[in-house]
Amino acid sequence: MKICFIMYPWERVNPAQDSTLRIIHESVKKGHEVSITHPSNLTIRDSVTLSFCKKIVANGKPSANMISFYKNVTFDSQIEALGEFDVIFMRDNPPMDGLLLNFLDSIKDDVFIINAIDGLREANNKIYTAAYYDPNRELIPVTHVSKNVDYLLRMIKESENDKMIMKPLDGYGGSGVIVIEKSAMHNIRSLLDFYINREKGQSNYVILQEYVEGAEDGDVRILMLNGEPIGALRRRPVAGDVRSNISAGGSVEKYKLTKQDKILCKKIGEKLVRDGIYYAGLDLIGGKLIEVNVMSPGTITDINRLNNTKLQEKIIKYLEHVVEQRNELKKDFRPEDLIGHAEA
Ligand SMILES: Nc1ncnc2c1ncn2[C@@H]1O[C@H](COP(=O)(O)OP(=O)(O)O)[C@@H](O)[C@H]1O
Ligand SMILES: [Mg+2]
Repeated sequence: MKICFIMYPWERVNPAQDSTLRIIHESVKKGHEVSITHPSNLTIRDSVTLSFCKKIVANGKPSANMISFYKNVTFDSQIEALGEFDVIFMRDNPPMDGLLLNFLDSIKDDVFIINAIDGLREANNKIYTAAYYDPNRELIPVTHVSKNVDYLLRMIKESENDKMIMKPLDGYGGSGVIVIEKSAMHNIRSLLDFYINREKGQSNYVILQEYVEGAEDGDVRILMLNGEPIGALRRRPVAGDVRSNISAGGSVEKYKLTKQDKILCKKIGEKLVRDGIYYAGLDLIGGKLIEVNVMSPGTITDINRLNNTKLQEKIIKYLEHVVEQRNELKKDFRPEDLIGHAEA
């Protein structure tokens, strides 16, 4: 198959740790045609969406060592029509570039995009999780999303708990996640004001969320492929920090899914697939869903190391299967089947 990775710059890949590199390596190993590109390379010419790509030159079996694979890989520069790939794998870092999605809208029916453009658009910030239907409050913590300072202050005062979490709606990597405590109410209006009005000429939503007990022991990252968990790990925060993100200094440990985690994965997994989110990273604390990461979730390398797995093999097998099925459908398609269905 022909696969294109729309990703952060190749020069920024850390070969010892990078998840995307492992997926690329597996694609090359399986003999697929692999190109990489960066969102800034997208172009439209005569109504065709193109990208300046770097195509990996097939050169026998790739080195099994990621660092030497990374160092020795060679590329051919090519302009490629994105609609002609079988798969586009979105591996750009957050924040999401809305215009990138507009470029891809034009080819979204021709190529299998992981994740689907409409899914990315819908789930690219924390509203997706906050709005998840959970009438019995089993799956997600109590969450408010608002930019109304008085409302948020009232929610803090009315909360049964002494502490809550406040974070920006579109943050990532743990940035801006803080604990607020009722005992320090005199700071909170100023903090809310700062979070909401931190940018000139534009106000921002904030998330106010129940502090989930157990966060001191870290959070759990679960990688979901086609609605099912394929791997997980626990991230432990550094002492004195509430955030478990690895980019905030957290460390990783082996983790086995509990029965409750599996039930949550099944429920969320079905929705993810319906929404076109075929590959995602869930963040759980105390068995509750905190966040769905749909933009380039990492941790493959750590999960592999802790469990002696190769998750990239599962991912590529899944893509091969999807492409095979799509091609079958295309083969069976006969234009005459449309007769009588065309709109007048
Ligand atoms: N409601 C919460 N209760 C306790 N800890 C939380 C809560 N929300 C976030 N955290 C901590 O902050 C980290 C980052 O929060 P998250 O919502 O995943 O945002 P980000 O997109 O920045 O990763 C979590 O991994 C967790 O350690
Ligand atoms: Mg997170």
